[in-house]
Amino acid sequence: MVLLTGNRRIRTAVFISGKGSNLKSLIKFSKTNKSPISVELIISSNSKAKGLNYATIYKIKKNVLNFKNNNLSEKKLLSILKIKNIKLICLAGFMKILSNNFIKKFKGKILNIHPSLLPKYKGLNTHERVLNNKEKYSGCTVHFVNSRLDSGKIILQKKVKISKNETKTSLAKKILAQEHKLYPKAILKVFNL
Ligand code: GRF
Repeated sequence: MVLLTGNRRIRTAVFISGKGSNLKSLIKFSKTNKSPISVELIISSNSKAKGLNYATIYKIKKNVLNFKNNNLSEKKLLSILKIKNIKLICLAGFMKILSNNFIKKFKGKILNIHPSLLPKYKGLNTHERVLNNKEKYSGCTVHFVNSRLDSGKIILQKKVKISKNETKTSLAKKILAQEHKLYPKAILKVFNL
């Protein structure tokens, strides 16, 4: 996909809606020597997202867009991304669905992390559905974003074993810890590093 030129890092925006623990792990990764990306912008669909605090902590520019009017928010978003010269988008707990038009404009340059072993359990409430179905394993997936929800090409997955007394909360915690490692690894893979 995007080629690295010299020592310049890929200008990246991370889109969030909530806690932003994946955002934090991406920022930390971006500060390591081996990272091909630099996190230049945080976009949130929610003005109360806890993850927005990382913008202050790490001195990264942020923008909140409420997506009440999807068209308008995406228009604004595209112009912000252009001004900031953003070349890669990492969705990390972003709860809005981007339009086909938007996705086309960043074709092959949007990544997402999902807390299941895709193609199983697309969409919301994954852990609950996994437990109801008495699965033995679950996990997380980093994939390219295409026009169908949680259906783009898979980059990397990590499997976790479900314990005997697993609950939604314990499973979410276990998987989230793996997500924090998987997203940076997937980015390295995308750039053949
Ligand atoms: C993660 O489980 C991610 O896979 C899902 O939403 C959650 C976001 O968590 N898409 P956080 O905001 O990164 O802590």
